[in-house]
Amino acid sequence: MQQAEKLSKLNVFLEDVKINDKNFHLRLGANFPIISDLFQKLYSNSLYNEEAFELLMHSLVKNFEERSSLQKKRDIARVSNPNWYSSEKIVGMMLYVDLFNTDFNGLKEKIPYFKDLGINTVHLMPFLDVPEFENDGGYAVRNYREVNPKFGTMKDFEALVKEFQKNDMNLVMDFVLNHCADEHQWAVEARKGHPKYKDFFYFFPDRNLPNAYERTMIEIFPDTSPGNFTYLPESDQWVMTLFYGYQWDLNYKNPMVLVEMIDTMLFWSNKGIDIFRLDAVAFMWKELGKFNQNLPEVHLLLQLFKLCGQIVAPGVAYIAEAIVAPEEIIKYFGEGLSQGDECDIAYNANFMALSWEALATQNTNLLKKSMNAVPKKPRNTTWINYARCHDDIGFGFDDKLVTELGLDSLQHRLYILKHYCDGFNGSFALGQRFMIEHETGNARLSGSMAALCGLEKALKENNEREINLGIKQINLQHAIILSLGGLPMIFSGDEVALPNNYDYLNDESKKHDNRWLHRSKMDWSLVENIEDSSSAQAQVYRQLKILIKIRKQTPAFADNNDLEFIDYENTHLLVYKKTVNKDAVYVIVNFSEFDTFFERNLFSDLNENKLFNLLTESEIEIHEKNFIGSYDVLWLRK
Ligand code: GLC
Repeated sequence: MQQAEKLSKLNVFLEDVKINDKNFHLRLGANFPIISDLFQKLYSNSLYNEEAFELLMHSLVKNFEERSSLQKKRDIARVSNPNWYSSEKIVGMMLYVDLFNTDFNGLKEKIPYFKDLGINTVHLMPFLDVPEFENDGGYAVRNYREVNPKFGTMKDFEALVKEFQKNDMNLVMDFVLNHCADEHQWAVEARKGHPKYKDFFYFFPDRNLPNAYERTMIEIFPDTSPGNFTYLPESDQWVMTLFYGYQWDLNYKNPMVLVEMIDTMLFWSNKGIDIFRLDAVAFMWKELGKFNQNLPEVHLLLQLFKLCGQIVAPGVAYIAEAIVAPEEIIKYFGEGLSQGDECDIAYNANFMALSWEALATQNTNLLKKSMNAVPKKPRNTTWINYARCHDDIGFGFDDKLVTELGLDSLQHRLYILKHYCDGFNGSFALGQRFMIEHETGNARLSGSMAALCGLEKALKENNEREINLGIKQINLQHAIILSLGGLPMIFSGDEVALPNNYDYLNDESKKHDNRWLHRSKMDWSLVENIEDSSSAQAQVYRQLKILIKIRKQTPAFADNNDLEFIDYENTHLLVYKKTVNKDAVYVIVNFSEFDTFFERNLFSDLNENKLFNLLTESEIEIHEKNFIGSYDVLWLRK
């Protein structure tokens, strides 16, 4: 169907749907031509093209009609403050509902805890209905419209949202859209041979095509779930499964899949979700003979999600969970004419991995060099800055930059792994290798913040010096993510330095996946006397609380696309500057366990001899040479 024909069909259709909202019509009118064009680009050859497009239009109207007036009010407020998610006032925490405090009601009870710490944005790890036994921590959804009964009922969820909104808190939903569980109704029907649902997935009668696909695909879990296809003995067929065998990849070449998933997203927008974390987006489109990440069609799909979302729920923001190279990640913000039409937020995985590299080597050269190579992102977009999350850490930094520093890229990675996993050179870290490449020994890394910073072991051994260094490293990581500009996301448990969780080894469904090492049950007994305690955990908690409070009072810490890394030769230091309306804050971080110094000439534009240290709330004199303690961070305002 041609564009003009589609437009006239839409007009006829709109005459029938009596929506009396001028803004809705404006948004629909503005986005419709782009949506229709994107749809055409992806699906002009699809059998389902017309049917799917019509369903999509119906979905937009139906979901807008169902959107509550309260939500619509929130939308209007957000539209007038379009980059609300990059404000200095926003601070996030990610958590598993059950590990945090049992269920939705338990979570609701902890709102005062969030308030005490200063958290106002909570990313809930997947909370939808999943198969009992294996579900990849919720990332294998069985029913997209039902919550996991272990966490409560839909009513409980709605009550939680209500309380969050009352308390001005934002809710981030993990939206698992690349794949669903093999127990999802679509998969069940497809297994039985139902043609409509078979088209929801990638099925193959034999290994010919899977073998051809494999040549250009990466493996995500090579140790535990090798290959990208799973054999179904009952029908003697293969189905595409990039992650675990029970996570079936959805076939976005079929527009009916896209429409179902957009409709689902709008359903959850109407439940009150503020931000969607779009999971594993880089993999959403697969093409024979091509690398299976970041294909151009992925970007068209994401634009469709965003533009449809904007028509119905314009206050909602979108995070791209794409852990890919900097030159690729930047594209998820939308390129050229599509800027603003794709994701608003993306993970700063590059910085995260490099900060662990710098802690291991006590050298910031690679971090500085890599940051200078990151392309500038568009206005009104931002990063999630984080130190730990529920996943492993992949040292996917650019080999070329490593080599330019005179290092061997494999040996460099092996060194970092030895530091974090083998106690090499006296390291106290208790990390573990994840998904080892057997030919090279290269691997990804698991372990909690406290374990990787050496605090867990230091506490076990009651080693005072190492306890102190461990606390300082955790505080350093927190001080960075809160000052880089963007949405800081604290991994629940890190605020009280939870150690590794070794219990997962007793759980048959988890023991093969050591990412569970850093997914611990919250220890509420630690929090009870946290304000008066002198424990290591209390020192981490209290410092984090101070950092959050100061961040919120410092407009320069909002993301105004102003982050500037200062080229400074001391290899232990990282220095960056954040500026808003001529108000500049310099952040100086010492990644070494030894004291060092910085010189006055670091501040090219300093007229006075004094700076204000935000963290101690005092002025400091700037001399020719200035002391900075081991693992210290300074937030200095002009
Ligand atoms: C994302 C999640 C990860 C999960 C995968 C598959 O990368 O962060 O935990 O295993 O998607 O859904």
